[in-house]
Amino acid sequence: KNPSSMPWFPRSIQELDRFANQILSYGAELDADHPGFKDPVYRARRKEFADIAYNYRHGQPIPRVTYTEEEKKTWGTVFRELKSLYPTHACYEHNHVFPLLEKYCGYREDNIPQLEDISNFLQSCTGFRLRPVAGLLSSRDFLAGLAFRVFHSTQYIRHSSKPMYTPEPDICHELLGHVPLFADPSFAQFSQRHWRLSKVYWFTVEFGLCKEGDSLKAYGAGLLSSFGELQYCLSSKPEIQPLVLEKTSVQKYPVTEFQPIYYVAESFKDAKEKLRKFAQTIPRPFSVRYNPYTQRIEVLDN
Ligand code: TRP
Ligand code: FE
Repeated sequence: KNPSSMPWFPRSIQELDRFANQILSYGAELDADHPGFKDPVYRARRKEFADIAYNYRHGQPIPRVTYTEEEKKTWGTVFRELKSLYPTHACYEHNHVFPLLEKYCGYREDNIPQLEDISNFLQSCTGFRLRPVAGLLSSRDFLAGLAFRVFHSTQYIRHSSKPMYTPEPDICHELLGHVPLFADPSFAQFSQRHWRLSKVYWFTVEFGLCKEGDSLKAYGAGLLSSFGELQYCLSSKPEIQPLVLEKTSVQKYPVTEFQPIYYVAESFKDAKEKLRKFAQTIPRPFSVRYNPYTQRIEVLDN
């Protein structure tokens, strides 16, 4: 019954600063199968990005980065390929917001947009903001950020040798995959409700498909940022299932290759309702509510 018997969780938006030193793996310490593992220049660059995030505190502007010619070229390839797929493969909401990002946030083939500009844009759309992250957060910490409408975003870019698919999130994934939908009010609400539900998050926000008339479209950010997987997910190869949270929330998944199975939502509204009902079935000793005026999580007795 007593909230103090729970592991610590942040109650105010400033307390998200504590996650900075709870990173699971630093960007500078890449796994052996990562395409940048053997490239010392890439590793040194990743360390620069890790330091920006490590030193960041809530309320500061996100430092602007001057990207190298090689980094801009990688972005250009990813941007061009994905932009040609979006009209046929991405959901309506994503296609609706994309031109606004081109107009207001510097989304162009020859320019990597700055996190600070996007954070300001999102705050004016849905109150979501970005904060730079040094490496992988635990899913508990990552989802706790969403409770405050804070999205932890990487700032480095994937290795130039493999633009089509990368085994970890990068700035292409955040900006092309996630950001467009965080500008959509209904989707933003849905994301904020994902507290504690990491598998559901995986099969919706990251790898979700949705129905549009008779066809299927992608809304998951992991699909919208990989021009390899975006084509694969709508081919007849993977298994497709309707979104049933009792099933989806226990489904295992691979992290560094194309998904063997995808779940289809009827609509964001339907997915949001399903999540609300499902969350009610999870027993917990107290409830929480976000107060947008104080930017604090309030603990309520059950
Ligand atoms: N594969 C994604 C891309 O190429 C990036 C990515 C790696 C990812 N791991 C992920 C996305 C986990 C979502 C979840 O853009
Ligand atoms: Fe992601």
